[in-house]
Order: sequence, then structure tokens, then C-alpha cells
Amino acid sequence: LAATAAVTLAFSGAAQATESCDDGEIVIKFSHVVAATGHPKGDAATLLAERVNKEMDGKACMQVFPNSQLFDDDKVMEALLLGDVQLAAPSLSKFEAYTLKFRLFDLPFLFQDLDAVERFSTGAEGKALLNSMTEYGFQGLGYWSSGLKQFSANKPLLLPTDAAGMKFRIQTSDVAEAMIEAMGANAQKLAFKEVYGALQTGVVDGQENSWSNIYTQKFFEVQDGITETNHQLLAYLLVTSDEWLNSLEPDVRDQFLKIAEEVTAAANGSVAQQEATNRQRILDAGATIRELTPEQRQAWVDAMKPVWSKFEGDIGKDLIDAAVASNT
Ligand code: LMR
Repeated sequence: LAATAAVTLAFSGAAQATESCDDGEIVIKFSHVVAATGHPKGDAATLLAERVNKEMDGKACMQVFPNSQLFDDDKVMEALLLGDVQLAAPSLSKFEAYTLKFRLFDLPFLFQDLDAVERFSTGAEGKALLNSMTEYGFQGLGYWSSGLKQFSANKPLLLPTDAAGMKFRIQTSDVAEAMIEAMGANAQKLAFKEVYGALQTGVVDGQENSWSNIYTQKFFEVQDGITETNHQLLAYLLVTSDEWLNSLEPDVRDQFLKIAEEVTAAANGSVAQQEATNRQRILDAGATIRELTPEQRQAWVDAMKPVWSKFEGDIGKDLIDAAVASNT
């Protein structure tokens, strides 16, 4: 608690975290790594906190800690089990230690757009996957979509072969690693908060992320440009610990879960617009966005396709087929 208080003070600019809780209120701490505002996850976390703090006033109190100020994504899962935080929303690429099923979401060019993602994640297979880490004590509450990923690099990329020999920062995902290797490039797993510095100092040459992350983290400032590949999904699992969830009185738990469900639906409904806005902000800032011709796009699809068979055993063919079917 003392350490948390110190961190809260040190980042008192992040006003959300200073929401003061009354005696007797259940404190719900939510730690995440992205910008507090102007980002699908940052805004969804804020909306969740606003609703909990208004509608559950006297019963529960939620504090949000954005920008990796409390925990990185690799530490936050431990923190959930220790009860240091009650909610997190790491990207689906970051659960390799607990389930290989989520490798599905990282398959390149799996989902054609965010509507397909929504269809899959609210369907039977998507919902079942929320329970894929219960043996470790984690419960998924919903998927928070964040957009498709684009490549940025310190030189122009139009074809995957342009990336040969370059080094790309990736999340802690073996699928992403295989994908980068399929481009003839090298992958380096780094925590999100280290990416800007790594790009700036040339530790890596490029990275892949959503428009909202590229804009709010200012990656475009330290890159030659961004290539609009839409090659992979960035989405999060809103996750909590079973122990905490089960510790709640049933009526409190039901109210919290209902708010979380409604916030999830509302947040996912505005992601495409927010991504488009942040893409435009990148252009307005003077950065270069390279669009691909259909032939160029096909070259990326072809280069990355071998990645699918590599991970089919971990994921299961039925699950891959269900995700593909959501594109119709
Ligand atoms: C990344 O590490 O690039 C992303 O997972 C960060 C995020 O949460 O969007």
C-alpha cells in the first residue's frame, strides 16, 4: 500500500488514479500501459471508472493507473493474483505464459476488419476463450478491441522484402516473432514503455502497432513513416482474478459485471472512429503514411501465411475456422 501511495503521488498528474475512496468501499485498481485519454483502452478504462464510481458509490471505488505507471504487462498478471490490482487489460499477445489459445488473435491477416473481430469475440467461441486461464486463477471479462496494426520503420516499407535484415520491436508473442522472421527480419521483444526510446536510439528499426498507439506514444516522430498494412489485430482482454471476483457479494458482483459488459460494448463501438481520428492526427503532424496497392498487400499476405500452419496445433483448426468464418 505504501508503494502504491508513493506511485500515485509521483504521478499525481494522472488525476484518475487519485480518485479517493471512502472507508468501506471496495477498491478496484486498474493498471494499464497506454495513454490515459485519446486511446481506445485509456478511454474505456476511464468510462468504466466513471460508471463504477457513480453507480456503485458507497459500495465500490475504482482507480485507474495508465501509462505503465504501476505495472508492465508482464508484471500485472502477478499483481492480479497478489491482489495489488483488481483489473488489467493486456493485449491478447501477452498471455503466452498462461494459454496458447490466444495465439489465434495474432495470426496475420486473420480478421478483415473490426466488425469481424466483434462478431467472433461475442460469439460462442470467443466467449468460451474468456475462460481459458481459469486454472491459473484468471477470469476474462471481455475483449476490448483496439484496431488493426501497421508497421512503422526508419526506412520505407512497401513490400515485406523491404524489411529484410531490419530489427522490429514486438510484444511478447511467438506468433509475432514468427511473422517478423517470415519477412526475413529480426524480432526483439520489448516492454511497451521502452519502445519510443528503442526506436529513437536505433536499438530497433521499426515496430508494429495500432494508429492510436503510434499517435499517442509519438512513435511517428522517430520513424521514417508508417505502412498501412492492417496486418494483425491489437485487442485486449479485460481480466481479473477469480479470487477477487468470488470475494464480492453476489449483488455487487452482478452490478460490476453488468457495467463492465456495457462499457465493453460501448468502447468497442467507437474504436474504428477513434483509430481513424488518430490516423488523421498522424498525417496532420506531417508524418508519412504509405498505402499499399492490392498487389503489394498480397505480397504481405503471402509472406506471412506460413505462420498460420506453424501455430495451428496450439490453437486448433476449429477455432481458426470459426475466426475466419466471422469475416463473412
Ligand atoms: C504493445 O505492447 O505494443 C501493446 O500491447 C500496448 C497496448 O496495450 O496497446
